[in-house]
Amino acid sequence: MSLDLAAPTQNAPGVATDGAWLECIACGEQFSPFAAIRYTCDTCDGLLEVRYADPPSFADFGAGEAPDRGVWRYRSGLPFDEGVSLPEGGTPLHHVPQIEEAVGIETLRIKHEGMNPTGSFKDRGMTVGVGVADELGVDRLACASTGNTSAALAAYGGRAGIQTLVLLPQGKVAAGKIAQASLHGARILEVDGNFDTCLDIVQDLAARGEVYLLNSLNPFRLEGQKTIGFEVLEEFHADHGTYPDRICLPVGNAGNTAALYKGFRELVQSGSLDPSDVPKLTGVQADGAAPMAEAVAEGRDEIRRWETVETRATAIRIGNPVNAPKALPGIRNTGGTAIAVSDSEITAAQRHLASEGVGVEPASAASLAGLKKLRRAGDIDDDEQVVCLTTGHLLKDTEAAYKTGGDPEPVPDDTDTILDHISSWSRFGPWCLLTPEKVGFCYFPSVSASIAVFECDSLRLLSRR
Ligand code: F0G
Repeated sequence: MSLDLAAPTQNAPGVATDGAWLECIACGEQFSPFAAIRYTCDTCDGLLEVRYADPPSFADFGAGEAPDRGVWRYRSGLPFDEGVSLPEGGTPLHHVPQIEEAVGIETLRIKHEGMNPTGSFKDRGMTVGVGVADELGVDRLACASTGNTSAALAAYGGRAGIQTLVLLPQGKVAAGKIAQASLHGARILEVDGNFDTCLDIVQDLAARGEVYLLNSLNPFRLEGQKTIGFEVLEEFHADHGTYPDRICLPVGNAGNTAALYKGFRELVQSGSLDPSDVPKLTGVQADGAAPMAEAVAEGRDEIRRWETVETRATAIRIGNPVNAPKALPGIRNTGGTAIAVSDSEITAAQRHLASEGVGVEPASAASLAGLKKLRRAGDIDDDEQVVCLTTGHLLKDTEAAYKTGGDPEPVPDDTDTILDHISSWSRFGPWCLLTPEKVGFCYFPSVSASIAVFECDSLRLLSRR
């Protein structure tokens, strides 16, 4: 099977350009990569993948010329050497010792993709995808989006000087993302429908030759996004001398899951990575939009499209993950899984990450929420080493951040009153102690104190003294 972890390398077919070609993952038909615009297979409509006769190895990365970080450091594993760049990638892999201890695993690192130029991992895909569009000489780019793709496409389209059209589900996109798309100069259409409907329409427009489609159906997007996996493996190995056992990531259209798996497969093909060292891909969806988690739970190879979806994590409010045929084998062949978490679990994880300085938007926090859930269920051992991807920045969705955080306290413009006001921190009386995981009440009725601690998610009593 062409998506097996140990699929052999192939010789470049006649249609290849510089050792790269497009191949259908369903029927194996091969196409020239740049000769014509196509997003899916002409014969069977299956998903396409960029294939290489010479898959990348760690030794190739960064060899020779600049840049020494970011997406284009991995150019030996990309279909060309330079894209439309802002530049992107090279994001931090945070240590989070307090969260690591609370989760109770050996190592937890957070790969914060919110630190890309427009604040999400989509930039990695756009530097390659808009690069192809530029080479092809198209005159209009388009995408359907829950927000981040539109922000990234608008910025990269602007950079390349190409018109950009974005279709968004009306009333379901965080304001920061719309503001970005707008200021970067995209034409924004708000569709009376959800993301999946928007994607159906953009595909129609693309099929009619009206626009160049830059959703993750476009195989070049995923080439850029696979560099997240390369960065994680390189940096984790440099710090810990091993590769992570597991990578948890939020899932919407499942493009990122597919992209990471593809990058790992290529490293296995080149002999750089042993199949047993490939991290278990663990996709996390919101309870209200969880067709992938459902398919994995039911052991199905195909997802069932959810017509009605709802979650506070609007970036992953998606009922028909179009990359599922690439992502499901990735989850299975790496020994991973897909699960769903509640909005309140997502909020608790967002607060927990923020408490240790990592500011993310709600969808991003699904990765940590999923890790915690699997840990509580006993599905993850305490000696595991895990990386959680956080995919978008806190400032993308300030309304959600504001609701998750505390309210500012109004005070008069007087230092003494302010001192008096903040001194209440040290007063005896009924106290409420809050962490993302636990809420505690402490009373000092006389000389003795009484403390009760509850778990936030369930309000289960954990201890009383
Ligand atoms: N996290 C964030 C912050 C996202 O914006 C998205 C997708 C995902 C996770 C899911 O990634 O689709 O590769 O599984 N956002 C798209 C958009 C759909 O339009 O911005 P995926």
